[in-house]
Amino acid sequence: MRAMSAREWWAATYLSGAAEPGRERGEAMPAQEWPVPEGAEVIGLPEPGVAAPGMVDFLGLVNGRRTVRTYRAEALRLGELSYLLWCTQGVQKMEAGGKTLRTVPSAGARHAFETLVLVNAVEGLEAGLYRYVASKQGLVRMEMSAERVEELTDSFRNVQLVTQSAVVFLWVAVMKRMTWRFGARGWRYILLDAGHVCQNLYLASESIGCGACAIGSFDDEGVNCALGLDGEEEFFVYGASVGRKV
Ligand SMILES: Cc1cc2nc3c(=O)[nH]c(=O)nc-3n(C[C@H](O)[C@H](O)[C@H](O)COP(=O)(O)O)c2cc1C
Repeated sequence: MRAMSAREWWAATYLSGAAEPGRERGEAMPAQEWPVPEGAEVIGLPEPGVAAPGMVDFLGLVNGRRTVRTYRAEALRLGELSYLLWCTQGVQKMEAGGKTLRTVPSAGARHAFETLVLVNAVEGLEAGLYRYVASKQGLVRMEMSAERVEELTDSFRNVQLVTQSAVVFLWVAVMKRMTWRFGARGWRYILLDAGHVCQNLYLASESIGCGACAIGSFDDEGVNCALGLDGEEEFFVYGASVGRKV
């Protein structure tokens, strides 16, 4: 089969060309959050405001933002992680039917991401992989063997970012949430949405003396396999490391 050119892909995502999406066919809206597994403990996070800075010089924040790739060897506080998660995906409003409004914009309020955090050094949390349960401002531990963690880590071009930061944010796209509303055009929106999420992480990190580095350089199949994602309907789309600035 001939590979689709970038031009063809772009055209396939034109608004006019999209096949009738699920919503138009009367399909139910996909849930905006993975369910919490039966019996799993939801670790409650501190109220995000505990780590929030007071008055913020917004221009100073924007001017001060820089990609930070080396970090102090110091754990983040749990409240700081809570603040960063809230600023990137926090649920401000749950509407009837499960549609959410969050701290970031999203095309059609689809919010088609799950946020996983690979914790290296956060006070009060064992190192390992967790999922942010945005609707509850909590975390669920995800079991992952040491070999799998290594497989995940090795799938990133800059392994140091993953191993030397306090925490790595991993954004997983759940495509059906997006395509249900937008069909093929949703493929554009998922990437645009991811940019908003990561920019909030940059600015929120900066506001509490931390730095972030966006991570787009990774082996897709390696990360998807390590995270147990099928790579088609659900796939790793983008990540970012965070740690305290030196
Ligand atoms: C989509 C995207 C992907 C990126 N991927 C990586 C990456 O994999 N590794 C890395 O070290 N930096 C990565 N960066 C950070 C950029 O290199 C950085 O933003 C750029 O050098 C400009 O520097 P600044 O952010 O300090 O302005 C990425 C940034 C973006 C927006």
